[in-house]
Amino acid sequence: MTQRLNLQFDLIRQSATVAMGDRILALKASGKNIVALQTGDPDFGTPPAIMDVAFKAMQSGLTHYGPSRGTPELRKAVATKLLRDEGVEYNPETEILITHGGIHAYYLAMQSILNPGDDVLIPDPTWATHSNMAIMLRGNVIRVPAPAENSFIPYFEAWEKALTPKTKVIVLNYPSNPTGMFPSKEYLQRLQDFAKANNLWVVVDEVYGSLYYDEKPTSAAAIDGAKERTLLVNSLSKSYAMTGWRVGYLAAPQAIIENAIKAGQNSITCVAPFIQKAAAFALTDSVIQEETANMRAAYKRRKDLVIRLSHELECDKVKIIEPKGAFYFFLDMRALNMPSVEMCERILEEYGVGLVPGSAFGKEGEGFIRVCIAASDKDVEEGFRKIVEWAEKQ
Ligand SMILES: Cc1ncc(COP(=O)(O)O)c(C=O)c1O
Repeated sequence: MTQRLNLQFDLIRQSATVAMGDRILALKASGKNIVALQTGDPDFGTPPAIMDVAFKAMQSGLTHYGPSRGTPELRKAVATKLLRDEGVEYNPETEILITHGGIHAYYLAMQSILNPGDDVLIPDPTWATHSNMAIMLRGNVIRVPAPAENSFIPYFEAWEKALTPKTKVIVLNYPSNPTGMFPSKEYLQRLQDFAKANNLWVVVDEVYGSLYYDEKPTSAAAIDGAKERTLLVNSLSKSYAMTGWRVGYLAAPQAIIENAIKAGQNSITCVAPFIQKAAAFALTDSVIQEETANMRAAYKRRKDLVIRLSHELECDKVKIIEPKGAFYFFLDMRALNMPSVEMCERILEEYGVGLVPGSAFGKEGEGFIRVCIAASDKDVEEGFRKIVEWAEKQ
């Protein structure tokens, strides 16, 4: 007799980004030269001063369990950051929880509010984990189309259409992975009013919040009346080039944090205290803020490089929708009429460029491919030229 498994996992696919990463590693191991533009991981090293703080913290004995809410020092640093950058005031004693990266903050946020069968509204396309996690937590995911024709922001009527009596929460991610888009302040205000009128929570993943090119995005928590229904997810991964450190935070009303602490205590106990020490330094030190501003400037330079190349190469089969933030392009290749998985596999095999198929981000992502520009200018240029060359031959 076969032993039974958790059926939830039949509804979830393995991460396409991770699968692509694994294939690329195998190709590289076989000696093939690959331009890797698939993984959303900064090509910059973590600033050395942050590493020094962590090392000294280890030497001073911060190598044991710490408070599961997070150290008071880091919670205070998070509150300082949120007030400084987003203009929102959070009480570090009651409204902030330190987590194992943004993904864990999202997990704790959803775990804190969802009951089995609750409807969860999530734009399409977006990062697959948002719906996968909701499914793991027995939520019922309803995707809200965010079409390219509307700059990858759902038409407002689409939210209204998706609403049911069981809707519990709206999940947002701005700037977006994979599109790099974010909505106007007015749009966010309208969405907040909609959430209030229908008694919904809003979970907002702002891990790319400090990566924008020109206009700074408004935090969803900064909208009038939003704070009491907003669960703000963020981390140091992308903005401070600290993806491997696994440190992030959830900022939310006290009742949410109390639930989230229980979920955190019973899953990870706490985030490593020496890492929390370094994170507090990263969030508040003025020289580090300048270093992150330099990273932001480099992403902008690469974004401009791709835009310039697209004008130069003039390819109708590879259309660009200029992103406003994060470090991705979501290229519109619908003219080729080919599944995005096939496109990515062929570009990898034939031209040695690693990419992620748009379908990994939802039905609306079909026909698109995601290019990550958190890579050297040289790789970004070479990769984009090769994508266009490949497309022209189809
Ligand atoms: C939208 C989004 N949220 C969260 C994460 C994960 O962030 P962290 O490394 O802080 O867990 C990613 C990583 O790619 C992401 O794209």
